[in-house]
Amino acid sequence: MSIGYLNGKIINPGDPVLPIDERGHQFGDGVYEYIRVYGGRAFMMKEHMERFFKSAEAIKLNLSHTPEEIQAIVDDLIERSGLSDCDVYMQATRGIAPRNHLFPNVPASISMTVKPFRAMDETLREQGAKVKLLPDERWQNCWIKTLNLLPNLLAKQEAFEAGAFEAVLVRDGIVTEGSSSNIFLVKDGTLVTPPATKHILHGITRIAVLDIAAELGISVEEKEFAPEAVFEAEEVFLTSTGIEIVPVTSADDQVIGSGKPGAVTKKIYEAFMKRV
Ligand code: PDD
Repeated sequence: MSIGYLNGKIINPGDPVLPIDERGHQFGDGVYEYIRVYGGRAFMMKEHMERFFKSAEAIKLNLSHTPEEIQAIVDDLIERSGLSDCDVYMQATRGIAPRNHLFPNVPASISMTVKPFRAMDETLREQGAKVKLLPDERWQNCWIKTLNLLPNLLAKQEAFEAGAFEAVLVRDGIVTEGSSSNIFLVKDGTLVTPPATKHILHGITRIAVLDIAAELGISVEEKEFAPEAVFEAEEVFLTSTGIEIVPVTSADDQVIGSGKPGAVTKKIYEAFMKRV
C-alpha cells in the first residue's frame, strides 16, 4: 500500500495537505532524495543520507533531524506500507510561511512517500536506449539535489518527444550527465565518467558503479569528455536509482559501438544486481 508522511503524520500520498504558503510549492525552496528499497531494505541508505544532509546544508536548511532519525522514519514507513520493492521519495523544504524571498524563521517541512516500485521497460536493458544530446541549461550547483528540476524536465520532455529515453546534457562543449541520470562510457576498455564537480549530481548509483569497477579490475578515468566521445565510445550507459544501469546504443540517431548493449556494461550490471 502506498503511504505518505508529513512532519510526523502518516497520510495518504494523494491527500491535499500542503498549504499554498508552503515554500517548496511556491519557490522550489527545498531538497530531495530518492531511495530504492529492495526486499524491504533501503539500498545505500548511508550514502543517500549523506547527500541529503549535504544538499540541505548547501541551501542553509536546518533539517532538525539526525540522519538516524530520518532513517528510522523511513524504516517505519516501509514496514507500514507492507511493500518490499518500493520507491522512497523524501522532500525537505523551508517550511510554511507567508510568501517572501527572505528565509522565514519556521521549522523545515519534511515529507515522504513510499510507493510500489515503478519498473521501467526492461526491453531497454536488453536492446539499449536512445539518447538525445541537449544543452545543459541548469544553474551552476547541480551537485545539490534541489526541488528545482525545470531545466531537467524540459530536456527530458524534448528527448522523449524526439523518441529518446534520456537527454544527455552538454555544458560548454562538455558532457555533464543525463537529465535524471549519470553517464559512463567505455573507451579502449577503460570506463570513463565525468568527474564529480559541481556541474553534476554525485549519483549514488555512480558511486556503486565506480566501486564495482575497482572490484572487477576495470580501469576507470573520471575525466571530462566532449559529445564526440559519446559517438566514438565502444559502450555507453546511464545510471540512476530508478533505472540502475541502462545501456545506450544510439545518440542523436547515430549507432554507438556494435549497436547492442556491451560486455562491460553487462558485467557491471550483473555485479550491481548481486549487490542489490
Ligand atoms: N535522479 N543526475 C541527475 C540530474 C539525477 O536527477 C539523478 C537521479 C542522477 C542519478 O543519481 P542516483 O544514482 O543517486 O539516483 C544523476 C532521480 C532518479 C530522481 O530525480 O528521481
